[in-house]
Amino acid sequence: MRISTAVLICALSTLAVAGPVEYHQSKFDTPTDKLDHDVQKLLDSLSLQEKIGQLSQLNINTISIDSWSMNGLNKTAVEYYAETWGIGSFLNQAQDNTTWLLDSRGYAKLVNEINEIYLNKTKHKIPIIYGLDSVRGAHYIKDATIFPAGIAQGATFNPSIVEEANKITAFESSTANVKWSFSPILDISFNKLWPRLYENFGEDPYLTSVLGAAAVIGLQGKFKTDDTKIAASLKHYIGYGGTRTGQDKDNAWVPINYLLDYQVPAYRAAIAAGAATVMTSYSAVNGQPVSSSKYLMDTLLRKELGFKGMVVSDWQEGYYIQQHHYAVKDLYNAVIAEINTGTDMSMTPTDTE
Ligand SMILES: *[C@@H]1O[C@H](CO)[C@@H](O)[C@H](O)[C@H]1NC(C)=O
Ligand SMILES: *[C@@H]1O[C@H](CO)[C@@H](O)[C@H](O)[C@H]1NC(C)=O
Ligand SMILES: *[C@@H]1O[C@H](CO)[C@@H](O)[C@H](O)[C@H]1NC(C)=O
Repeated sequence: MRISTAVLICALSTLAVAGPVEYHQSKFDTPTDKLDHDVQKLLDSLSLQEKIGQLSQLNINTISIDSWSMNGLNKTAVEYYAETWGIGSFLNQAQDNTTWLLDSRGYAKLVNEINEIYLNKTKHKIPIIYGLDSVRGAHYIKDATIFPAGIAQGATFNPSIVEEANKITAFESSTANVKWSFSPILDISFNKLWPRLYENFGEDPYLTSVLGAAAVIGLQGKFKTDDTKIAASLKHYIGYGGTRTGQDKDNAWVPINYLLDYQVPAYRAAIAAGAATVMTSYSAVNGQPVSSSKYLMDTLLRKELGFKGMVVSDWQEGYYIQQHHYAVKDLYNAVIAEINTGTDMSMTPTDTE
C-alpha cells in the first residue's frame, strides 16, 4: 500500500500532539497524605527510637548464620535486631548452602520466621517489609519468571507487555512474602559508555514515562484491595544516568533544563501512576549529592512532582555523602542531611550506625 505524504504528515502530527501519558485511573490506587486511622494510631504510640528503627533497612547477611553460605537464619541475630533496634526492613537475595537462591517457598518461610520473632520480641509487633531488586522479573527468587532487560522491554514500545511482566513479578514476589520491589529503573543516560544503559527503557523520556507508569501499575495496581500487589520504587532519583565520564556512580553533570526535560518526565508519570516509594541516587548532581539537596529532594520531588510516598536511600548512601562526596564532616551529619531533605528510610545496610 502506498502512503501519501499528506497521510504521513497527518499521522506524524497526531503522534506529536498525542499529549501526556494516558493513565487508567480506575486501574490503580495512589498513596495519600492521610494515613489510615489504625496506622496513625500505631505511629503515635511509637517512641522516637522505635520510629528510627522502622526507618532502617539491613542486608540479609546481618541475620544469616554465615554471610557467605547463608545456610539459614541466625535467630539470635534476628532477636537482637528486633528487640534492640526494631529494624523495619531487610533486603537482598537470600540463599542457603544447598540451593543457592531460595525459591518462593524458601523466601515465604524466611520472612514468616523473621516476623514470628518480631511477634515474640517487639512491643508493637510490626512486621518487617522485605525488598528485592526485581528489575526484570523477581530474579532473586529461584523459581520466578525472568523477563528481558529494560532496554529490550523498551524496544517493544508496548506498555501492556511491560505492565503484564510487572503484574507477574508482583504476583511471584507477594507469593514469596516479598512486598517491595526496587524497580522500575527510570534512568536516562546521555553517555554511551555507561555500563548500566541496558537496564533502562532507553533514552527517550516519553517512552520511559509510558513504560515506567505501566510498570508501576503492573506492580501496584489496586494495592489497597489486591494481595498480589507489591510496592514499586522508582530509581535512581535523579540524574543517576547523567554520569559525566560514563563510569557507573560517577557524578552527574547535567544542565538543569536537560534534567527537567529528559530525566524528570518519567518520574512525573510514574508518580502520577501511584508509585509508593522512590529510591535516591548516590551520585552528586552538578556538585551536590542528591540526598542532601533541598532543591532535588524537597522542591522538585515533593512540591513540584507531588510525591506523597516514601523515600528510601540506595546502598550505604549515608556513608557516600561523607566518605565519597565529603559533603559533611561525619556520619551523624550525613544522617541529618538525609533526614532534613526528606529521605525516610536508610539502606544502611550492614550496621546500625
Ligand atoms: C548469630 O548472631 C549472634 C549475634 O549477632 C552472634 O554472636 C553469633 O556468632 C551468630 N552465630 C552464627 C552461627 O553465625
Ligand atoms: C547447610 O545448612 C544446614 C542448616 O540449614 C546445616 O545443617 C548443614 O550442615 C549445612 N551444610 C554445609 C555443607 O554447610
Ligand atoms: C515464639 O514464641 C513461641 C512461644 O514462646 C515459641 O514457641 C516460638 O518458637 C517462638 N518463635 C520463634 C520463631 O522464635
